[in-house]
Amino acid sequence: MRNQFIVALFLGVVYMGCTKPSIKNENPSEPLTGNRLVALADTEKILQNANPNVMVGAAVNINLLPQTGAYRDLVIKHYNSLTAENAMKMTALQPQEGTFNFSDHTIEDVALNYGLKRIHGHTLVWHNGLPNWIKNWETAALPPAFPTRAAKFDSIMSRHIRTVIANYDNPASIYKDAAGKPLMKSWDVVNEALDDNGDYRSTQNIVNGVDKGSIWYRTIGKLYIEKAFTYARMAAEAQGDTGIKLFYNDYGHDYSAKKLDSIYKMVMALKQITVNGKPIIDGIGMQFHININSSNTNIKNALIKMASTGLLIHMSELDISLNKPGLPFSSTVLNLQKQKFEDVAMLYRKYVVAAQRWGITTWDVGDNDSWLTYSNGVQVDGATVYDINYVKKPAFYFLYDGLYLAIPASL
Ligand code: G3I
Repeated sequence: MRNQFIVALFLGVVYMGCTKPSIKNENPSEPLTGNRLVALADTEKILQNANPNVMVGAAVNINLLPQTGAYRDLVIKHYNSLTAENAMKMTALQPQEGTFNFSDHTIEDVALNYGLKRIHGHTLVWHNGLPNWIKNWETAALPPAFPTRAAKFDSIMSRHIRTVIANYDNPASIYKDAAGKPLMKSWDVVNEALDDNGDYRSTQNIVNGVDKGSIWYRTIGKLYIEKAFTYARMAAEAQGDTGIKLFYNDYGHDYSAKKLDSIYKMVMALKQITVNGKPIIDGIGMQFHININSSNTNIKNALIKMASTGLLIHMSELDISLNKPGLPFSSTVLNLQKQKFEDVAMLYRKYVVAAQRWGITTWDVGDNDSWLTYSNGVQVDGATVYDINYVKKPAFYFLYDGLYLAIPASL
């Protein structure tokens, strides 16, 4: 008995010397087995400490963040990077033409006061999240100063980019990191410019009140993309911010080979364009709105292809849909989800070298605030790692393990 104890102790010490153990058994809903080696206190910053080479972030809602409670606690406790789910879209920042609204500092305050490492800006140029005034300019009579509609939209786009970047890059801003650099470290400059066939979004196509085509493409033409990046780089340089990272952000890399290819070609072309000797693009946001059946092989191939650009890779909007199975969620779908969270984190670590990782950001914090959860007030999905009461789901522990554990050769 005593010998068995010594052997067990020895094996335990050897194991802990090699790698920290899985924390899956921290989950009370998982059976505790005899090999639970450490108990991480719930006060520890678990996710953001899982792997020093992967920054972990979440998309946050500025209406929920100021309220004390589980949502705010989790954001402060587990994440190092914040993305505004909606608060930095054009509709929020320029609600009337020429009137910018930078009065909300919720995200910056949380990042500053709780020592989070960065804020990721989302998003400067998108076909969605637009204020109505801009839509009106597609048909309204042009003022004499603008000979063409392209000139008018170019002017709108450049002013928006210049003003927004300058605000968050303002040298007088208090929102700085420990090194005195702006907390706003990066921007999705252009968001979702391509459709699933790999073509540029263009023709107006209103679905549920949202135009799936791009007003920017229709008015400026495809040059709007390189113009947007050029304006963004110029705006940051003008503020003396030489370190800001500029991203092209999109989804569908895993399920549309055509779109993947178009994104690759587009970013490679953008990489050749420089301002002050610096490429106008630094990175690719791969959103990863995936589901429990998304193919690991496709995810792997997409990561390899995007990483081959040499650009930074941000898994920028990760959530894993249960595919709206109806309540109660079966253990089958929840098990598939937790495994996919682990797989995705491991695939990211395996196929994106540390120097190219901008990190993994989940889209929204928990199921309660996820854009996918509710339909007409009824819960239909649960794509995040916390349930609607902000209790950690098995997926939380598997995401941690995906960030932390050794990667199996099979992935
Ligand atoms: O704030 C208004 C509210 O005043 C109004 O009463 C209500 C009526 O519908 O709408 C509210 O605004 C909604 C907003 O979310 C805040 O809830 C908008 O209608 C709605 O369109 C908006 O949806 C957001 C969507 O982007 C469009 O901007 C989602 O929350 C947000 O999760 C989603 O995020 C996108 C990323 O930006 C880009 N990638 C895909 C991702 C998911 O669709």
